Amino acid sequence: MSQTQKALFFTSAHSYEISSRPIPKPSPGQILVKVKSISLNPIDWKVQDLPGFDLLIKQYPAVLGHDAAGDIVEIGQDVLGFSENDRVFFQCGGHLGVEYGAFQEYTLVPAEMASKIPSNLSYNQAASIPSALTTATVSLFAPTPNGSGLNPMFDPNVKYSGQSAFVAGGGTSVGQFAIQLFKTLDFKYIITNSAAEHFEYLKSLGATHLIDRNEVPDQDLPKIIEGIAGGKVDSAIDAAGTPTTQAATLACLKSGTHLGTVLPLKTEVPKGNTAGMIFGSTWSDSNREFGKAQWAKLEGLFGTGILKPCRIVELSGGLEAIIAGLRDLKADKYRGRKVVISL
Ligand SMILES: NC(=O)c1ccc[n+]([C@@H]2O[C@H](COP(=O)([O-])OP(=O)(O)OC[C@H]3O[C@@H](n4cnc5c(N)ncnc54)[C@H](OP(=O)(O)O)[C@@H]3O)[C@@H](O)[C@H]2O)c1
Repeated sequence: MSQTQKALFFTSAHSYEISSRPIPKPSPGQILVKVKSISLNPIDWKVQDLPGFDLLIKQYPAVLGHDAAGDIVEIGQDVLGFSENDRVFFQCGGHLGVEYGAFQEYTLVPAEMASKIPSNLSYNQAASIPSALTTATVSLFAPTPNGSGLNPMFDPNVKYSGQSAFVAGGGTSVGQFAIQLFKTLDFKYIITNSAAEHFEYLKSLGATHLIDRNEVPDQDLPKIIEGIAGGKVDSAIDAAGTPTTQAATLACLKSGTHLGTVLPLKTEVPKGNTAGMIFGSTWSDSNREFGKAQWAKLEGLFGTGILKPCRIVELSGGLEAIIAGLRDLKADKYRGRKVVISL
């Protein structure tokens, strides 16, 4: 195997180059993966563009990218349950060091934070999953205070039959996974708002009631949602994260419950509820134990079709295609479809 690899380095915000770096060795507990496919996330352009988000890059040059799928080429000491050549998918941690970013040919990940790709999924489909899914799982399944604590161990016997849920922004990738998670828990009402073009797809994922977000302003959502559910909903996630979706979601949520929102909280939280921005990564110490339970379950959940990957848009061009892909993602060209690139 060669000693060097190609990586997309951001040398400062908006300036980048593709150059060589050494292929790292896995430390105990880690696996080295030959990356076959990556997907793009809004955070990958936001860290370069938006004040506050830029703090996530501790230093330049940086290798960004949060979602990857590939083949294990080397296994560190003490790793159990994986073999060389296993196909795996996982979330990347480029904010912690260049060796952990996705936008390169080889990357490192702790084995406990990777899942084998079930045989029914391609590398590209698998790469569409990690960050969007994890944001939804942390918000809904992880224990409080990080999440709503609905199912921290991914126990298939945990059910909330008869209960109601609202997903603000069902058209987002995060929202699509939230709908699926509520379905696994047997929620009776899974209400969401999105552009009408997504309605059939979101129904196929488990949404029971759809509201056209281009017809109904956020301020009007609580009344409509309470009409459908027969009162305030038992659980919710705000996958859009605007001040008006945050306010509307909190207004229709039962007292005593928690709301996770994808962007910083910009609205008042009613007495009796808690709310906060989701930290949608299992790399953080606070999500690590929850993450272990999650990654151990994903091969089965996707392999049996209980969870489905995102709809994908496949770009060609390898590492060179990432910059144009991020520009188009920022311009909202892909509308809730995940952009994936084969390396
Ligand atoms: N906190 C975290 O850890 C975390 C993690 C992942 C993502 N995020 C953030 O979560 C957001 C969603 O990420 P994503 O990857 O799921 O995005 P995405 O798949 O790119 O979502 C794009 C969709 O957002 C929908 N949308 C935009 N504004 C909306 C609004 N006001 N109300 C309802 N829907 C709206 C649009 O849906 P329609 O097509 O229906 O119009 C659009 O198609 C982004 O802001 C991202 O930065 C945060």
